[in-house]
Amino acid sequence: MSESPVPARPPGFRLGPHRLEFGLALAPMAGNTNSAYRRLCRRFGAEWTTTEMVSSRALHYNDRKSLGYLEKGDDEVPCSAQVFGAEPEILAAAARRVAERGFHGVDLNVGCPVPKITGCGGGSALLREPGLAFDCVRAMVEAVDLPVTVKIRAGWDERQRNAPAFAVLMEEAGAVAITIHGRTREQRYRGRADLGIVRDTAAAVSIPVLGNGDVVDVASARRMAATGVAGIAVGRGALGRPWFFAQLRAAFAGEPIPPDPPPAERAALLLELGRGVAALYGERRGLRIMRRLAADFFKGMPGAPRLRAACNALETLDDLRRLSDRMRLEAASASLPRPCAAGSRPTPDPAPR
Ligand SMILES: Cc1cc2nc3c(=O)[nH]c(=O)nc-3n(C[C@H](O)[C@H](O)[C@H](O)COP(=O)(O)O)c2cc1C
Repeated sequence: MSESPVPARPPGFRLGPHRLEFGLALAPMAGNTNSAYRRLCRRFGAEWTTTEMVSSRALHYNDRKSLGYLEKGDDEVPCSAQVFGAEPEILAAAARRVAERGFHGVDLNVGCPVPKITGCGGGSALLREPGLAFDCVRAMVEAVDLPVTVKIRAGWDERQRNAPAFAVLMEEAGAVAITIHGRTREQRYRGRADLGIVRDTAAAVSIPVLGNGDVVDVASARRMAATGVAGIAVGRGALGRPWFFAQLRAAFAGEPIPPDPPPAERAALLLELGRGVAALYGERRGLRIMRRLAADFFKGMPGAPRLRAACNALETLDDLRRLSDRMRLEAASASLPRPCAAGSRPTPDPAPR
């Protein structure tokens, strides 16, 4: 008798004292995963969030701007801070700073492909220096009582796809979970994330592995879950779509999947995010950050190119309020029936101003 197929869902795992039901995480993204955005994602069901990457050296030397990346709300539980670097002692000191700031974990970045980071031996360059990476993780584990986790890529390049063996070493060094983005450093964001290497990495270690890369809808999340990972980290799929987590949770729980929120609700979320980012960084800097974050909220919406163009002019919260009003208006006017007599051509959209 054939069994009915069980829809794939990740089993979740424990991060320190915190139980993550589905292991649903927001992947760290520089310029995006600030506290305000993380809190929105958490409200929709993200179970573990992480700051954007922060320089371990800068934290060690108490650099004010970098310490600013360690802002966190009390309701963000659990939340890790991600650090990058390649010097064990400096990383240990950075981990202590992270612990002092009340985070629930510290994550080592072994995935960043940017030459500015890899040129100093950090990010994905550590994939080529497993011994040094081991020392870095060991030093962090010895420095703090927090769970230490590591985020890696499939490997450095096609010839060196060493994620499974690298993950084993990280486990030996004391890491309690691994996130793997199924692309090599050489690929950056090109091609597709390789689920085969995610599967091999999950099978190689006994600590939880989170699969990452190209999870953009329920179908791709189920494909990722079917690799045997304990959880899933979502990056770009959650940009401008914090509600994606609610859809994933519902799918994994076997419940009806909520639709994307209507434009008025998205406009309200955008405004709420803007207020949060302005509270974190001040109105001037916050609204500059919002120029990028806001643009993602218009994906697939009527008038998206016009709305995106308007983002570049955001200076104040009032500007953002007007933009969120425009978002509602664009959607409302798109849903009106067009006065279009039989046989006549529809009026083209006005050119973007
Ligand atoms: C704008 C942007 C910034 C990112 N910044 C970081 C970062 O600070 N730390 C990190 O480990 N990964 C970073 N990543 C990589 C993501 O965490 C993730 O691994 C990658 O985007 C693949 O997952 P996705 O297909 O779900 O986006 C960044 C990705 C993007 C698009």
